Amino acid sequence: MTLAEAETAIDSILGGRFGHAGAEVVIEEFLEGEEASFFALCDGTHVRALVAAQDHKRVFDNDEGPNTGGMGAYSPAPVMTPELTARVMKEIVEPTVRAMRDKGMPYKGVLYAGLMIAKSGPQLIEYNARFGDPETQVLMMRLASDVVPMLMACHDGTLDRADIRWKDEVALTVVMAAAGYPGDYRKNTEIKGLAGAAALDHVQIFHAGTKAEGGHIYATGGRVLNVTATGATTAEAQARAYEAVAKIDWPEGFCRRDIGYRAIEREKQGA
Ligand code: GLY
Repeated sequence: MTLAEAETAIDSILGGRFGHAGAEVVIEEFLEGEEASFFALCDGTHVRALVAAQDHKRVFDNDEGPNTGGMGAYSPAPVMTPELTARVMKEIVEPTVRAMRDKGMPYKGVLYAGLMIAKSGPQLIEYNARFGDPETQVLMMRLASDVVPMLMACHDGTLDRADIRWKDEVALTVVMAAAGYPGDYRKNTEIKGLAGAAALDHVQIFHAGTKAEGGHIYATGGRVLNVTATGATTAEAQARAYEAVAKIDWPEGFCRRDIGYRAIEREKQGA
């Protein structure tokens, strides 16, 4: 196809709707697969893999509805086998860190690789220079070593010797959001039952959008609570997280009911 033919074809696709802005069209490969969030730490020279997590970006069960910042997450991400992790480090993360160092811009800190695990192998969708939300909540539940020395080692250039250890268990978090999120939602609605939920074994509740006033807790944001639990399996962590959710009395809030479903399906199949 000549350039002129391509332009005519694109014109007919866009119907001139975007005027000049439609004069340039970027055609990208459509990637089909499973998404995973992969984390690594860098000190400018050394790079250490952390672990992976998977989040659920759509607002409703079965991954339906509009995108959100994340309605829940779990770690480990079964799709990230040790072989895939080694490949991601060798083919994606280590070359990135090396290139930044070679360009005189050494990167120190967290690298969050948003991956698509396609049939052809792991593909990088985006990098973030931060931990993810709600991935951090599950990562921190699984971390057996102290996060502060790990981060200091990034600063000091001693990451190769840093103590980084993980608990051999699954962590899963359910986001409780204000009804209407990610659209308009009410603020300052009271949340009760938090103490009873947090008192459950293996449960930790992280507050993302709340305020305490006069001994009461009120919702102040869209994504409000991360009800997080650990277990020997994803199914166990999920059951514990939803047991805690059931103790929370917040009629103006909602959550997805299927966080971790892919991993639980894999567990059922013994994969
Ligand atoms: N959970 C996605 C993000 O933090 O970007």
